[in-house]
Amino acid sequence: MRSTFLKRRAGTLALCGMLGVMAAMSAHASSHQASLRFNPASGGTVGQVTVYGQTVTYTAYTVSYVAKPNDPAKQVMSIYIPANATQGSPIFMPLNTGGYMELDLLTPADVTTDNVNSSGSGSGSAIAAALALSKGIVVVSPAGRGRNTTMLVNGVTTEVGNGPAALVDLKAAVRYLKYNDSVMLGNANKIVVSGTSGGGAMTSLLGITGGSAVFKPYLDEIGAAPSSDTVYAASPFCPITDLDNANAAYEYFFYGSGITTANPGRTAPITLSNNDQRLSAVMAQMYPTYLNRLGLKHPDTGVPLKLNSYSPDAVAGGSYRNYVYSLFSASATRFIIDSGYVSADGSLNEAGQTYMATAETVNGVKSGLTPDSVITWNANTRTATLNSWKNLLVYMNRMKPVGAFDNGFYNVTGEMDLFNTDPAALKNDITVADGWNHFDPNLKDAIAKAAMMNPMYYVLRYNGHGGIDVNPYAATVYGTSSVAKHWRIRVGSYDRDSSPFVSANLAIALQNRGLNVDYKIAWNQPHSGNYDNTDMIDWIAGLSN
Ligand code: DHB
Repeated sequence: MRSTFLKRRAGTLALCGMLGVMAAMSAHASSHQASLRFNPASGGTVGQVTVYGQTVTYTAYTVSYVAKPNDPAKQVMSIYIPANATQGSPIFMPLNTGGYMELDLLTPADVTTDNVNSSGSGSGSAIAAALALSKGIVVVSPAGRGRNTTMLVNGVTTEVGNGPAALVDLKAAVRYLKYNDSVMLGNANKIVVSGTSGGGAMTSLLGITGGSAVFKPYLDEIGAAPSSDTVYAASPFCPITDLDNANAAYEYFFYGSGITTANPGRTAPITLSNNDQRLSAVMAQMYPTYLNRLGLKHPDTGVPLKLNSYSPDAVAGGSYRNYVYSLFSASATRFIIDSGYVSADGSLNEAGQTYMATAETVNGVKSGLTPDSVITWNANTRTATLNSWKNLLVYMNRMKPVGAFDNGFYNVTGEMDLFNTDPAALKNDITVADGWNHFDPNLKDAIAKAAMMNPMYYVLRYNGHGGIDVNPYAATVYGTSSVAKHWRIRVGSYDRDSSPFVSANLAIALQNRGLNVDYKIAWNQPHSGNYDNTDMIDWIAGLSN
């Protein structure tokens, strides 16, 4: 039963939100569970945001979501309760995690017709938050540890946010909401998470690892509430995930394009050496082994999706590659129709023809290619078809060197830092020797944590589903979790931060489990998110059951 005193709005409360944090933090010494109890009658601050010029009023609280914080400044979250929220309102949890780094509290930002679909995990999610409030949806913005969080431990600056720490914090935030469901407006059985890139990975993991006992020791350590951490729905944008297989996925995607440079952005383009190119070929040939063992099926026909060993001809690449090809074609079709480029007879109108024939700058580079070197419009069927995988890759302009997610030679990647458990290797300045020596005793721990952080192992290997994994610890997480019912997955057609296979596999695996999955490739989008905030919030508002 939900308590009725909640129906009295907390509008008279104008205390500083930090009081709530301090109260919660000091209370934990006396009672674990009391410190985790939400009190709507204390610490609320009334605030406002405008959405298309209309004022939306909310009451904001900032609370600590754990009883034994490891980092008291970080393990807090802001709760925004709109004036018209009910006990049944969904709870939207935007995760503005970038680069697997620690995340900060966000404040809802004013929405205008100009900025509503502006991408970017920070500003974009602040806008999504305000839109959600305008629909009576409760918004919860957690802060939390990330791979760059350090603290003094016994006098030594030590990383405290590697491995699953960021996910554990978010799970603790979910548990707090479930623990307080009866005393807080909003329905904790309707928690919807969303984030981009590293935040997309966290979103996918929250959606997939609900209730898994593998996180229990970590949750106990920080005094998470004794409640469930399952979520109802997840809306990841371009999740950087399946890290154990992401290198091979990247090489299979880019190999054979003839592109011999990588453009990480931070440095001058890297020319791939002969050795890099040989390594790329080796990795590209590894990928089908993994993919075929996933046992994915075409979501509509149930036909097994198979990937052949690499060939430059995408169509000869097997049913899996053809299916991904068709997803790109469908993306281009939607874009052309939604842009108003089609005449009544199905042919492209003037604007459409201009679009097709104008060279584009994609990912900051002028390839000289025009869209019609990548897609062909068929006026009879009113569909676009991807006509050149290779041109698409030229357009995209490969970003990462070979060994995209753990290449310590050119580029110490964020993912290396994520799993580096050596306390002496601080922040992002680890070297190969610090974190990734093959004889480093911490390596086993890092690989075990990589298995915990790979959503594919939880979602696919259930019910005796067989196969051999790249990660020897994968079996430790099989079938240990409850998976969110509703999914909305987006990735841009020009995203080169990871292979599109990664998000495709996530979507297909969820579809194969019979879940409600809305998965689309967004034409023309680079590595970004929140470019369709209006649709995303409508999707959340429309979810039922
Ligand atoms: C992000 C981007 C990356 O390329 C990556 O490898 C990990 C995270 C990000 O933007 O969050």
